Amino acid sequence: MEIATTVAQMRDLRRDMRGSVGLVPTMGYLHEGHLSLVRRARADDDVVVVSIFVNPTQFGPQEDYKRYPRDLDRDLALLRQERADVVFMPPVEEMYPEGFSTYVEVSGVTEVLEGAHRPGHLRGVTTVVAKLFIIVQPHRAYFGRKDAQQLLVVRKMARDLNIDVDVVGLPTLREPDGLAMSSRNAYLSPGEREAALVLSRSLRLAEQLWGQGERDATVIRQRMNDLIAAEPLARVDYVSVADAESLRELDRIEGPALVSLAVRIGATRLIDNVTLGGPGDEPS
Ligand code: PAJ
Repeated sequence: MEIATTVAQMRDLRRDMRGSVGLVPTMGYLHEGHLSLVRRARADDDVVVVSIFVNPTQFGPQEDYKRYPRDLDRDLALLRQERADVVFMPPVEEMYPEGFSTYVEVSGVTEVLEGAHRPGHLRGVTTVVAKLFIIVQPHRAYFGRKDAQQLLVVRKMARDLNIDVDVVGLPTLREPDGLAMSSRNAYLSPGEREAALVLSRSLRLAEQLWGQGERDATVIRQRMNDLIAAEPLARVDYVSVADAESLRELDRIEGPALVSLAVRIGATRLIDNVTLGGPGDEPS
C-alpha cells in the first residue's frame, strides 16, 4: 500500500495506474461503514484509492473540527487488511495553501436539511470532493447513503460540472441494535449511546407507519417527533419527510421519500435516514 501526502505524489501514483480507479473519500477514524465502501471498490475496481482528510472547510466555527476523532495508525492497518492500493492523506496546508479562495457550491438542494442547519458545510464538502476528483481522477467514487444529502449533492456537482465520475451510493451499516455507524459515535457516553437509539427507532417507526399505508407526511413527522421527545437526552435539529430527489418537504407521500433527521444527544449531533418507496438500502 502506497501513501501519498502531497498532491504531486498522488498525481505521480495516478499516472502509473492501469484499469479502473475507485476512490473512497473519508475523514478517517474508520469503521465498518467506511470499510464496506472500500470492499465495494476492491470488488469493482482495479485500483483502490482511499483518502483520509479531516476537511476544515466543512466544519462550522463552533463545530467539532479540533476534537474530531483521529487514529491514523489504526486506519492504515485496516486499509492494509482491505488491500487498498493507495492512501491519500494530505496535511491541511496541502489542500488549502495560503491564499486559497475558490469554492464549489451547489444551489437548491443544499438549502435544506444539513444545508439549513450547518451553514457552509455542504460547500466545504463539494469543494473538497471536487478537489479530490480532480487530483485522483477516479472512474468511480463511493459514498454512503448514511449522508443522503451529501450523496445527492456530490452527484449533482459531478453532473453539473461534467466531472466524469460514476458516483456510487451504498447502504448504511448499523450496529446490531440499529445505531448507524459513525465516527462521531465515539463521543457518546454509555447513557448517551443508549439514548442515541431514538434515531433508528424513529426511522423504524416511519417505515412501519408507511408499511401500514400511512401516506400523510405530517403524521409521520409528528409520530417521530413524539418518540424522540420522550428521550430526555435528545434534542431534535430537524425531522424531515421530503421528496427523495428535490428534498422538498412533502404533505403526502406519492413517490420515493427521504425520511431524515438530525438529533443532538447531549453535545453530539447525529444524523440518519431511510428511503420509503424507493430503491432504499438496496446496494446500487
Ligand atoms: P466520513 O464521515 O468519514 O464518511 C466517509 C464516507 O463513509 C461517506 O461517504 C459516508 O457516507 C460513509 N459512511 C459513513 N458512515 C457510514 C455507514 N454507517 N454506513 C455506510 N457508509 C457510511 O462523509 C465524509 O466523511 C466527508 O464529508 C467526505 C465525503 C470525506 C468529504 O470530506
